[in-house]
Amino acid sequence: MDKRYRKAIIAGNWKMNGDNTSLKTFFKEVKQSKTPKNITKNILCVPATLITAAQGLSKSSKFSVGTQNMHFEQSGAYTGELSASMIMEAGAEYVIIGHSERRKFFGETDEIVAKKTTAAVLSGLKPIICVGETNCQRNFGVTLEVIRRQLKIALSSIDAVQLKKIVIAYEPVWAIGTGRTATPEQAQEVCKEIRTCLREMYGAKSARAVSILYGGSLNANNAREIFEQYDIDGALVGGASLKAQDFLKIIEIGAEIIGK
Ligand code: 13P
Repeated sequence: MDKRYRKAIIAGNWKMNGDNTSLKTFFKEVKQSKTPKNITKNILCVPATLITAAQGLSKSSKFSVGTQNMHFEQSGAYTGELSASMIMEAGAEYVIIGHSERRKFFGETDEIVAKKTTAAVLSGLKPIICVGETNCQRNFGVTLEVIRRQLKIALSSIDAVQLKKIVIAYEPVWAIGTGRTATPEQAQEVCKEIRTCLREMYGAKSARAVSILYGGSLNANNAREIFEQYDIDGALVGGASLKAQDFLKIIEIGAEIIGK
């Protein structure tokens, strides 16, 4: 079973939600919960304003801290932006790159995603790169082509050693925040294609070690069958990561099915 070669990861994306109070409540509940016997790598990607607080609160909680965006330059005249070294200094270890909401609302292109991925890796931040097709692309039957293009461009200057630091998240745009989760078969088909594409780019050994997550209306009711899919190694969770109790249920299911 190839799953033994990769980390099981349950990551939360708080998007533009949360404050110091909700963050404290979240970690209080996490620390009160009992840790599942099998272990998943748990990550909470918070708004940049909460990185430092999350880093402090996450100590002794088995959570790593991430954030949701960064600029590809190291410094300069980019008003309002944050560089990789800035978010690392604040306490982030992971960064989500190329989320469909950034692509849609902030004009992030595949080329920008590639630049950010390279800058993150060179700075020592671990990228969670998001790829995903729109409803229209799926209806026209070009899902796999779209995913391949996004992936190939994002990783265009990443070598096999750097690939070890990268996590890929498949998030169909039509499934995000809609309550319409991809079926396990749909999710597996695309995640398998992602791994095939990685194999073509980096070889079998490198490809089998990359954690591929599913994201899009995932919750405790549908997580099990998604985690059972051969090429899926965890989840990137939006809404259901906001409350510790909901998120912990997903972590528990992850630990049971894909935990190590
Ligand atoms: P939802 O789980 O709220 O659908 O969001 C998924 C997502 O976009 C995570 O990055």
